[in-house]
Amino acid sequence: MVKYYYGDKDRAKKYFLPKVEGIDKLFANGVPIGSAVVVEGGPGSGKTIFCLQNCVGACEQGKKVLFMSFEEPEDNLRDHLKMFNFDAEKYEKKGLLRIKRFNALDIARSVEALLSEAKKELLIDVQPVLIPQDFQPDILFIDSLTSISSAFSGESSRFRIYMEQLFRYLESHNITSFLIMETPHPVHLGNVIAGVDQAVSFLSDGIIIMYSVIYENGKRGRAMEILKMRGEEIHRKIVEMDIINGKGLVVYPNKPLKGKFQLT
Ligand SMILES: Nc1ncnc2c1ncn2[C@@H]1O[C@H](COP(=O)(O)OP(=O)(O)O)[C@@H](O)[C@H]1O
Ligand SMILES: [Mg+2]
Repeated sequence: MVKYYYGDKDRAKKYFLPKVEGIDKLFANGVPIGSAVVVEGGPGSGKTIFCLQNCVGACEQGKKVLFMSFEEPEDNLRDHLKMFNFDAEKYEKKGLLRIKRFNALDIARSVEALLSEAKKELLIDVQPVLIPQDFQPDILFIDSLTSISSAFSGESSRFRIYMEQLFRYLESHNITSFLIMETPHPVHLGNVIAGVDQAVSFLSDGIIIMYSVIYENGKRGRAMEILKMRGEEIHRKIVEMDIINGKGLVVYPNKPLKGKFQLT
C-alpha cells in the first residue's frame, strides 16, 4: 500500500515528503523531485538515521530506492532498518529497493581510468562507476560523499570533476538524492568553507544540516536546519530535534534554539 505523508497525493507528485515528524513545518511543500540534497553534520549527528528513515518512507511511497553505503555492510543497514519495523528484504525481493555497499577506493580507481581514457574531454559517464546498470532509482542515498572524497586523497580536482558528473547525471535522470557529507565542524557557520565541501555545496540544490548542540550548562542536545532548498520556500531557523528509538529523527519546528549554546 502506498502511503502519502501528510495525506496529500498531488503534493507527492512534485515533492518528496521526508518521513520525519515535524519536518513538514519547515517547508512550504517538501523536497522538489529531482533535487540533490546534501545532508551535512558531524559524527553521530543523525545523518545516517535521517537517510535510513527516508529510505523507508520512499519505499512506502512506492518509489524505487537505491541506498549506497561506503561505511557499513549491507546486513548492518538491513538491521538498522528493522529499528523502523521495516522489512528491507521484502522490498528488495520486489525489486523496489537495492542496498549496496561500495568500496570508495574502487570508485576512485575507476574514475581515474575513465579520466585517462577521456583525455581532453573531462566528460565521463559516471553511471558504470556508481549506479548499477540494471537499476534506475527514483531516490538515491549516498553514505557518504566524504568517504568517496577521502579515496581521492590529494586529487581533489578529480573528486570535483567526478562530483560535477554525478550531479549532472542525477539531474538528467530526475533522481532525487540525499548525499551525506560528514564535517568535523558545521561548515556553513564559520567563515571558512573550502575545498571539497565548497564544491559539493555549490552543486547541490538543497542543504540540510544536523547539529550537535552544547548548552551553557554543559548539556548536549540535537538540532537541525534546512539551509537551502532550491525552488522551495523554507523556514529559516535552527530547531531542536531528537533521535527516538523506533521512530528515528523527530523535529520540533516550534522550538528554535534559544539561550547560550554552541553548535558543533
Ligand atoms: N535506536 C536508537 N534510539 C535512540 N537513539 C539512537 C538509536 N540508534 C542511534 N541513536 C543515536 O543516533 C546517533 C547516530 O546517528 P547516525 O545517524 O548514525 O549519525 P551519523 O551518521 O551522523 O554519524 C547515535 O549517536 C545515537 O545516539
Ligand atoms: Mg553515519
